[in-house]
Amino acid sequence: MSDYLNIALPKGRLGEKAYSIFEKAGYDCSEITENSRKLIFENSGKKIRFFWVKPSDVSIYVERGAADLGVAGKDIILEYSPDVYELLDLGIGKCRMAVAAKKDYREDPEKTLRVATKFVKITRDYYSSIGRDIDVIKLNGSIELAPILDLSDVIVDIVETGTTLKENDLEVVSEILPISARLISNKVSYKFKFDEITKLLADLKKGMEG
Ligand code: PRP
Repeated sequence: MSDYLNIALPKGRLGEKAYSIFEKAGYDCSEITENSRKLIFENSGKKIRFFWVKPSDVSIYVERGAADLGVAGKDIILEYSPDVYELLDLGIGKCRMAVAAKKDYREDPEKTLRVATKFVKITRDYYSSIGRDIDVIKLNGSIELAPILDLSDVIVDIVETGTTLKENDLEVVSEILPISARLISNKVSYKFKFDEITKLLADLKKGMEG
């Protein structure tokens, strides 16, 4: 495995976009688009290997060295704070982390704010930065339901097109930060595969410009 560059890609739409950046840069692996159940693909000529992993697991593979490199959203990086290097903003998977609530919601500053989210750390960091007491309710999906069923006052979640909020009569109350996908590197790999990683980075940048 060691003379290959091992890259963890997030399964799904973001991963497909990420793969096409690698493809454009000359690191293609045609089998990847033909086979939907396989998880590992390699290009022996380029000495590169791609894995499909759950988006929220990319940073775990990279931090522990099972992958040398990975593509992870800034949301995942901030939430899990993995001990990795962030090498490049890939300019894909652009969205915003935002606070949203029901359209008629009026905040009562006297009360502890109930916030439903998948992103507990980002939520705590944001509200502590503005000095607001909160009660975090950790959910794993369908976050938009929480204010509708009065499980929470607001949510902290990703907004991309805004369609999910709109279709559930919710609206953005405030924006926390912009998100996009980043290329991350395992710290040991960065040292020992420095030449290969530097070459890949230069090729990716060139591919992204062209
Ligand atoms: C994310 C997020 C919102 C939705 C926002 O969910 O949690 O529900 O996308 O996108 P939009 O603004 O374009 O409507 P995702 O699809 O990742 O699934 P999840 O329910 O597992 O969070």
